[in-house]
Amino acid sequence: MNNLRPVGIIGTGKYVPEKILTNSDLEKMVDTNDEWIVSRTGIKERHIAAPDQATSDLAYEAAIRALESAGMTGSDLDLIIVATITPDSSFPSTACILQDKLGAKGAAAFDLSAACSGFVYGLATATSFIQSGMYNNALVIGADCLSRITDYTDRNTCVLFGDGAGAVVVGEVPQGRGFKAFDLGAEGAGGSLLQIEGGGSRLPASAETVENKKHYIYMNGREVFKFAVRVMGTATIEVLRKAGMDRTDVDLFVPHQANVRIIQSAMQRLELPEEKVVVNVDKYANTSAASIPLALVEAAEEGRMKAGDTVLMVGFGGGLTWGASVLVW
Ligand code: ACO
Repeated sequence: MNNLRPVGIIGTGKYVPEKILTNSDLEKMVDTNDEWIVSRTGIKERHIAAPDQATSDLAYEAAIRALESAGMTGSDLDLIIVATITPDSSFPSTACILQDKLGAKGAAAFDLSAACSGFVYGLATATSFIQSGMYNNALVIGADCLSRITDYTDRNTCVLFGDGAGAVVVGEVPQGRGFKAFDLGAEGAGGSLLQIEGGGSRLPASAETVENKKHYIYMNGREVFKFAVRVMGTATIEVLRKAGMDRTDVDLFVPHQANVRIIQSAMQRLELPEEKVVVNVDKYANTSAASIPLALVEAAEEGRMKAGDTVLMVGFGGGLTWGASVLVW
């Protein structure tokens, strides 16, 4: 990648809905408690979309902030990619809805389905389009409304998820900066460990699928946990190898925010001190595709990166999938 046109992030924005659901709110809904949730996951609260807000509405709020920070408007965009597993509907894509709302006339637009790894998959896709010369810029958004696919009677899952959106504008950057490597992967054999069974062409929506809760997230938490710990380590090492770097080069580690214990195990494996790691799972919980961009944008807003810093993003999720990238800020 080093000899290609340098492509990096030229604008950032984020949005979370106003309503906050705390652990003590959840104590009133299911048999759980704050101590269990904090000690097992690190989560204290999460944001929940209003009834009239869909994923494209969250994505729009993040997108206009990212465009503003890039000094651009929707009409400047060549490509829009929305990474999501909770599109407004099966089709049109959430990206097309957004293209219209942003006035991005003429921009190509599509959704990308790689669950919590979706944002890194989106960054890799946008970077490839720009490096090939096909487009000059792209808006990449990770946005999810997991509250819409969460069973709030199931304590195994309902404490884990939240809603939000993070957006970046990707474009040409000065030599030496930008994305240095990506490592994307999948293990489709583990797909059934984390899924929504109903509502697709295999098991179309019916009164029975609704009754049997087939439209909610099913997760085998322990197995997903093991997969997460494994690939967070291997993907990080592999992407650093591809970039010709090692763990000591990392200035900021931006992991998928699913569970603080998964983040801690990656930190230990890579021997990264706390100040180099972004953790905001306590405030937002797991927001799937929005999780990495929410962490990245929040770190940028807090002034945690300076020009030339090496930022390593890594995520895992349904599919099963993983994605990692090395970016020189
Ligand atoms: N409150 C109280 N007790 C609970 C709760 C709760 N909210 N949830 C589960 N328990 C109970 C279980 O029933 C179990 O009880 P039992 O032993 O009597 O059966 C006990 O707590 C321990 O359960 P474990 O599954 O062993 O708990 P664990 O320490 O593994 O933590 C967790 C569970 C948090 C789900 C963990 O496995 C995890 O984080 N897994 C990874 C999840 C993840 O990262 N998903 C990401 C992808 S999401 C996406 O792509 C959309």
